[in-house]
Amino acid sequence: MASDRRKACVTGGSGYVASTLVKLLLERGFSVNTTVRNPDNEKKVLHLNELKRLGDLKVFRADLTDDASFDAPIDGCEFVFHVATPINFASTNPEKDVIEPAVQGVLNVLGACKRSKSVKRVVFTSSAAAVCGNNLHGTGLVMDENNWTDVDHLVSEKPPSWGYSVSKTLAEKAAWKFAKENGIDLVTVAPPYLAGSSIIPEVPGSLHIAMAPVTGNVFLINNLKNMQIKSGFIGLTHVEDACRAHIFVAEKGSASGRYNCCNVNTSLPKFAEFLKKRYPHYNISTEFSDVPYEAKTIMSSEKLIREGFAFKYSLEDICDQSINVLKEKGILQN
Ligand SMILES: NC(=O)c1ccc[n+]([C@@H]2O[C@H](COP(=O)([O-])OP(=O)(O)OC[C@H]3O[C@@H](n4cnc5c(N)ncnc54)[C@H](OP(=O)(O)O)[C@@H]3O)[C@@H](O)[C@H]2O)c1
Repeated sequence: MASDRRKACVTGGSGYVASTLVKLLLERGFSVNTTVRNPDNEKKVLHLNELKRLGDLKVFRADLTDDASFDAPIDGCEFVFHVATPINFASTNPEKDVIEPAVQGVLNVLGACKRSKSVKRVVFTSSAAAVCGNNLHGTGLVMDENNWTDVDHLVSEKPPSWGYSVSKTLAEKAAWKFAKENGIDLVTVAPPYLAGSSIIPEVPGSLHIAMAPVTGNVFLINNLKNMQIKSGFIGLTHVEDACRAHIFVAEKGSASGRYNCCNVNTSLPKFAEFLKKRYPHYNISTEFSDVPYEAKTIMSSEKLIREGFAFKYSLEDICDQSINVLKEKGILQN
């Protein structure tokens, strides 16, 4: 018997954001197809197998570099959430390892959407990295949906993890071009660092980075410093709020274009001060002489809020839940 459930495809179900999105879609009554590169890797799909308890979830094999691999998971779906992207901050060849597969991947996914005939709207997971990377000066500069990361500046300066920011910018631009040329209804959502809850087996990369002032991990604190230097601020959103925003813009008929999805705008020194006050029993440093105390940039989510979206989780919720994840994974002691 054919199911009358609404059906959605989520790419990259092994990942942090996509797995949360799959869970929320199942809880909302959707049938969900998700893709992973290797469904035989039991560790990577364990959480997906557990989610099958919530509803109709199918796991498909697909790779961003294989254009035909998305046809089966996308066929028959009303919404496609393209979340998967190559993330490799350590790559010595970001063009080949990160930028090319990200751009190729979005074109392959959109090509499958076009062939499917069933897809009504595609939601692409963009990033603050595609909005806020620039060479502007000042404080309180407001970055809205008209702003794009300055790719030329990043390619010439090559700050740490520049390849990721360039990949997200060029992939989103390629998505808009393909969508306009092929009549695809595309909406994009750009969050900053995501943290809070998690259902994946490993510690999510962005949660680990966001909580670096608490763990004292110097390498990850440098990631946060680089974020503020490259994008001008530290932005935080609860992963479930980002996924709720994906579903919100998919279902909201009037939604169109790009949407920033940033709940908390701060700077690294101010964020560290907040953490030190809230968690006095951890040894949290607030000395960051190499990072400005005032953020250069504010990432505005006014457009999303005007559309009717409300963030559910506060900075306190994001940090309390992230610390619980780090305790569960044995990274933090009580
Ligand atoms: N987390 C954040 O703070 C944050 C903030 C803003 C935007 N985003 C965006 O959110 C999305 C998900 O990020 P995440 O934090 O969830 O990262 P993640 O946990 O590392 O997930 C990335 C996913 O992409 C998949 N992937 C990588 N290369 C692939 C390829 N060639 N073919 C198919 N799948 C591939 C990975 O699959 P494997 O498991 O097979 O490697 C994984 O499922 C990305 O688009 C990212 O830019 C994340």
